[in-house]
Amino acid sequence: MEKIVINGSNPLKGEVEISGAKNAVVAILPATILAQDVCRIENIPDISDVTMMIKILSQLGAQIKMINRSTLEIDTRGINSFIVPHELTKHLRASYYFLGALLGRYSRAKVSMPGGCCFGVRPIDLHLRGFELLGSKISIDNAMINASADKLVGSAIYMDNVSVGATVNVMLAAVKAKGLTVIENAAREPHIVDLANFLNSMGADVRGAGTDVIKIRGVDKLHGCTYSIIPDQIEAGTYMVAAAATKGDVLIKNVIPKHLESITKKLIDCGVEVEEFDEAVRVRCDKRPEKCNIKTMPHPGFPTDMQPQMTVLLALADGTSIVSESVWDNRFKYIDQLIRMGANISVEGKVAIVQGVEALKGAPVGADDLRAGAAMLIAGFAAQGQTVIENLSHIDRGYERFVEKFTALGGDIQRVNFPDEGESEAESAG
Ligand code: EPZ
Repeated sequence: MEKIVINGSNPLKGEVEISGAKNAVVAILPATILAQDVCRIENIPDISDVTMMIKILSQLGAQIKMINRSTLEIDTRGINSFIVPHELTKHLRASYYFLGALLGRYSRAKVSMPGGCCFGVRPIDLHLRGFELLGSKISIDNAMINASADKLVGSAIYMDNVSVGATVNVMLAAVKAKGLTVIENAAREPHIVDLANFLNSMGADVRGAGTDVIKIRGVDKLHGCTYSIIPDQIEAGTYMVAAAATKGDVLIKNVIPKHLESITKKLIDCGVEVEEFDEAVRVRCDKRPEKCNIKTMPHPGFPTDMQPQMTVLLALADGTSIVSESVWDNRFKYIDQLIRMGANISVEGKVAIVQGVEALKGAPVGADDLRAGAAMLIAGFAAQGQTVIENLSHIDRGYERFVEKFTALGGDIQRVNFPDEGESEAESAG
């Protein structure tokens, strides 16, 4: 079994380059199916979710050419199937975007229920409702979602919950539907805007992305394009918090500062210095952070995907902070791991009460999911002594070359193989 070994309490100092956005690329790769043509995608992060997405595209019949580590050419002319089986979908939640993309191309799709991070119930009722309103018939048997339509027709779709996934999936199905689709109460995340920009580069007509009303006029045909993925807002936020939690000084490059606004504001509330440049932010902290309260909200609110990372900083703050998780039912599992490191946190439902301590102590911990794993990395760098983290497959899903990037910042981190310990349950579950 591979584990991460961190010897903590060195301040992280230096420069780090942010990679392409995971949650944008996992929506844009399936979207290439909508054109029977060649798309060149740049600034793709080298992460296991992308590897899985490429595997699914290849199994469907697409030809994928790797131009360099972050650039792919995807030829979807050879796609000859609308079925995505369980052994491919179980690894990542975003596999369900093939529903919208295959519906958009074939008016048919048969995709197994997705896998991905488990923090409470993750329904897909809004996705399926959206497809039905566009004219699809939906059935689920043996955990396979079957969607089919004679012809997709534009419709008014109100999202009861703000849902990134449902907004993406409806966009993918609607771009070639007949007539106008209006998505109300749409998600506004940067990756929604990135997908809309990509679809428009292919000849679609998507307007309003980034607001809560997205209008899509169906077109008959889409064509290939060249497109560069936006920088990853959450990877950037993770390095910002790591710099603050280790009392470091880090220049985080290749970012869009506007996407980081809510994170920047909360760090400043904690007494952390954040300086913004055109495509970079510099984060400095030379004292103990101050307490502050966090409530996760859909964009432009504080991102739920930054909640675990920020809680590590608050666990070291002077005073008591309240962290409210309003998006997911149960996204505090990682707190048990922080308590093993000496954190003083109690959880009541969707609220964590974080009483700051002077220092965390290194310990053996596990990564429960992707962002919980990121939180363990930050805790390890901030803690006194050694931290050993297992279940690395979660972290590899969303953080390109994180060992190299943290090492370049002066972090004492190694990926070590423990051969006699077999596979962690996460690795064996895939
Ligand atoms: C996306 O998940 C992200 N994943 C998640 O990031 C992120 O936490 C989440 O959006 C919120 O920002 C990807 O983009 C691949 P939602 P998604 O649909 O689309 C409810 C990470 O760490 N809901 O926006 O699955 C749902 O229960 C991952 O990168 C319904 O009720 O999230 C939740 O309470 C983890 N019915 C809320 O909406 C539905 O049909 C938001 O979920 C769909 C969602």
